[in-house]
Amino acid sequence: MGFPLPRWFAHRGGGSLAPENTLAGIRLAAQMGYPAVEFDVMLSGDGTPILIHDETLERTTNGRGPVSDTPDKVLFSLDAGQGERIPRYDEAVAACRGLGLLANVEIKPATGFERETAETVARLSGVLWQGAAVQPLISSFSLEALEIARDLAPQIPRGVLFERVPADWLAVVRHLQAVSLHCAADGLSDDVLAEARAHDVPVLCYTVNSADSAKSLFERGVSAIFTDRLDLFTSETSAYKGLQLDG
Ligand code: G3P
Ligand code: MG
Repeated sequence: MGFPLPRWFAHRGGGSLAPENTLAGIRLAAQMGYPAVEFDVMLSGDGTPILIHDETLERTTNGRGPVSDTPDKVLFSLDAGQGERIPRYDEAVAACRGLGLLANVEIKPATGFERETAETVARLSGVLWQGAAVQPLISSFSLEALEIARDLAPQIPRGVLFERVPADWLAVVRHLQAVSLHCAADGLSDDVLAEARAHDVPVLCYTVNSADSAKSLFERGVSAIFTDRLDLFTSETSAYKGLQLDG
């Protein structure tokens, strides 16, 4: 199955105009015309997949301590900003499906929970996205997590995520049967872009928070960007490139 790859992804489920990784953020991204959102999925202390970026609660909620030690009863009573609750992964999927958003599901395991997180997210993804017109794109910095996603939910496309792209990135993409390369915009070399172009691998860059950087990256051949700046998006820049991802 193929689908068009949008050029703009709202980063952390809606970025800076709404609390990150919340349903309010996802809804705001859709309202502002975004075709796609990226969000981070980690396991709670009870093993429930939830949307959160950090391994600890302090920065984005009024709670304290490690996410992986905190039971659902506590987690879901916390304020994740502007009265928003931390969403469960299934709630985020329902929101994206209802709003017609392409989701980039970043598996973000707490240290030591790589296998458990990937198995839970991959298995649940197979169920939650069944029959969806647009399948999500699963990514992770964890090679182990992507191997598990490949084995347990092979029908869902995968993107390989690097902070710095290593020389053997293409071998990693092939090993994971991934469809895209995701990396930090800073330090992305033209050599990597040329190699990606030669092998027809779209490159997606995070985190791009100025119109100038976005323009320059698109001109260099980057296919899509993740931004916190929902306001940067315009109908002109939202044009789909018509790229097809095979998953
Ligand atoms: O998936 C792209 C980007 O979100 C990776 O960085 O730390 O914001 O999850 P981070
Ligand atoms: Mg992320």
